Amino acid sequence: MDSVTKRYPDGTVAVDRLSLDIPDRAITVFVGPSGCGKTTTLRMINRMIEPSEGTILIDGKDVLKEPVNTLRRSMGYVIQNAGLFQHRTIIDNIATVPRLLGWDKGRARDRARELMGRVGLDPSLAKRYPYQLSGGQQQRVGVARALAADPPVLLMDEPFSAVDPIVRKGLQDELLRIQEELGKTIVFVTHDIDEAVKIGTKVAVMRTGGRLAQFAPPAELLTDPADAFVEDFLGADRGIRRLSFFPAAGLPLLTTPVVAVDATAEQIAARTTPDVPYLLVTGLDGRPLGWGEPRNLTAGRIDPTRLLAHGRPFEHATDSLRAALDCAVLSPTGWAVAVGADGRVTGVVAQHTIAEAIRSAHAARPDTEKAVR
Ligand SMILES: Nc1ncnc2c1ncn2[C@@H]1O[C@H](COP(=O)(O)OP(=O)(O)OP(=O)(O)O)[C@@H](O)[C@H]1O
Ligand SMILES: [Mg+2]
Repeated sequence: MDSVTKRYPDGTVAVDRLSLDIPDRAITVFVGPSGCGKTTTLRMINRMIEPSEGTILIDGKDVLKEPVNTLRRSMGYVIQNAGLFQHRTIIDNIATVPRLLGWDKGRARDRARELMGRVGLDPSLAKRYPYQLSGGQQQRVGVARALAADPPVLLMDEPFSAVDPIVRKGLQDELLRIQEELGKTIVFVTHDIDEAVKIGTKVAVMRTGGRLAQFAPPAELLTDPADAFVEDFLGADRGIRRLSFFPAAGLPLLTTPVVAVDATAEQIAARTTPDVPYLLVTGLDGRPLGWGEPRNLTAGRIDPTRLLAHGRPFEHATDSLRAALDCAVLSPTGWAVAVGADGRVTGVVAQHTIAEAIRSAHAARPDTEKAVR
């Protein structure tokens, strides 16, 4: 987008000299307060709205010079509440664009069935009508329909705003997974900064009046907000949220203060250290059971019901420093429990060790490519 402006007939400047490069095969999120011009920007990309000034190029081609039908077919479009055709079944909703493109019914429905699987919809829903689905399921149908003709570009306008936070998180995870598989160029509009930071490869923060405040990867936004508006928009716990971009994998783990539920008196004694007032007890399968003071542990048959809760463990190899810190803060002993992908304990780490890791992480740059989830 090169110096794109949209002035509506009544004089409202919805978008003001917007210039930015939307990267290929990545998710670009437009975020900002209500009325700042997000929807207008998105709709100018597929020419549902024509810009007043400036140029929009896709792969070097001016959108204003493309036949509008060709342009729209190369872009899937998803809106809030999915915008499904109420009188058509789920499968026929998804098959809409392939049918418009002249595919025969069988092939279009096969494609629709394949996409239902891809977006996590049970095949048994195929013959239902939209009103017979939950909001989250309808939203998935909307995504499947937009993907049906395999367009290189996906435009999404607040697609997940109408569902509750848990369903919303599921839809976001699903979108990230689909994106990993399909590598679409996605332009996503939201007014939710947490959603933007979670799913955006790059985030464009817009301010009222249709002006771009900052365009950067999420980690950079959290590290260096361009001005007070962006900082304010990011919210109060920006420091904590930034920790999502640092891996926990570098944290040094202690393996000494860990015993199995059938530990002998010698093992308990050997694993008790002056630095750690507690021992983490694991089951025979290596999974955490809870914390106990060494003197309260009965050798040979530790009673799991008398242990302190271990809290939610973090995965050392894949989680972020934010997850590790959260575990330590919630742990009754102040120690976080690290596990492997199989759920078996790989060690424990103290709050103060995590704090040291955070201090050295702040000195380094975050991984701006992708949040550690
Ligand atoms: N057809 C129109 N005529 C006049 N003004 C319009 C028109 N459509 C939108 N606007 C104005 O343009 C500005 C940007 O609108 P837009 O819908 O792009 O905002 P938005 O960022 O998507 O907001 P929201 O988060 O509420 O969806 C607003 O001030 C809006 O009132
Ligand atoms: Mg809007």
